[in-house]
Amino acid sequence: MDIVTAIRSRKSIRGFKPDPVPREILEQILDLARRAPSTMNTQPWEFVVLTGEVLQKITQENVRKLRGGVMIHPEHVITGWPSNSVFRARQVEVARRIFDLMGIPREDKEKRAAWMERGFCYFDAPVAVIILTDRALTEAGPLMDIGAVMQTICLAALEHGLGTCIEDQGVMYPENIRQAVNIPESKRVVISIAIGYPDKEFPANRLESPREPLDKIVSWYGFE
Ligand SMILES: Cc1cc2nc3c(=O)[nH]c(=O)nc-3n(C[C@H](O)[C@H](O)[C@H](O)COP(=O)(O)O)c2cc1C
Repeated sequence: MDIVTAIRSRKSIRGFKPDPVPREILEQILDLARRAPSTMNTQPWEFVVLTGEVLQKITQENVRKLRGGVMIHPEHVITGWPSNSVFRARQVEVARRIFDLMGIPREDKEKRAAWMERGFCYFDAPVAVIILTDRALTEAGPLMDIGAVMQTICLAALEHGLGTCIEDQGVMYPENIRQAVNIPESKRVVISIAIGYPDKEFPANRLESPREPLDKIVSWYGFE
C-alpha cells in the first residue's frame, strides 16, 4: 500500500471480526513501527501485546469497575476540553456521528453506556497493544514520541488488512493490565491500540471523521 493511500484510508475501527491475528503479523507491524522518530532517538516506548484469555480477563475487570462506578485513574493526564471551545465542539460532533451511525438516540442512557463499555472492551478486538513508557521520564515528555509510534503502528497494520483504534479508554484502569501481566512499577501505562480485522458491516466503521480545511489551520509566509 502506498503511503498516501495508507494515510487517507486509516480511520478508527470500532467493530472487529473475532478472527485471531497471527503473532508473526503483529511482530512485523511492531518491527516496522519501531522505525518511528523520537526525541534524540530516545525511543521511550515498550509494547505489551495482549490476546485471548489474558485480554478477556482485563476487559471483564474493566467492565466490572465501570459498572461499579469505580473512578477512572489513567497513569497520564487525559486532556479535558473547555466547554464552548472548538475542541469540545469537535468531540461532540464525532460522538454525534458515531451515535447516529449506531442508531443510539441522545436520550438513551442505557445504549450510550453500552457503547462506552465497548471502548473499555477494546471494541472486542482480538488484540490490544498497550504502550508503556518509563517513569524516569517526565509525564508529558515522551508523549510526542509515543504519538509518532502509535500512528506508525496504525499505518503499518493496514498493509495486513488490519484495522486499529487508538484508545484512552483501554488504559483507564491500568491496574487491571498490571494484574494480568508483568509490568514493572518503573513503567507507565500510556495508551492502548485495539487491533483486528475490521467488521465491514459494523455501522460505526462507516464513520469518516471530519477535518478542518487546510486554509483554516495553515499560515504561509515568504511564498510568491
Ligand atoms: C490519544 C488518542 C486517544 C483516543 N482514545 C479513544 C477512545 O478512548 N475511544 C475511542 O473510541 N476513540 C479514541 N480515539 C480515536 C479518536 O476518536 C479518533 O482518532 C478521531 O475521532 C478521528 O477519527 P479517525 O481516527 O477515524 O480519523 C483516540 C485517539 C487518540 C489519538
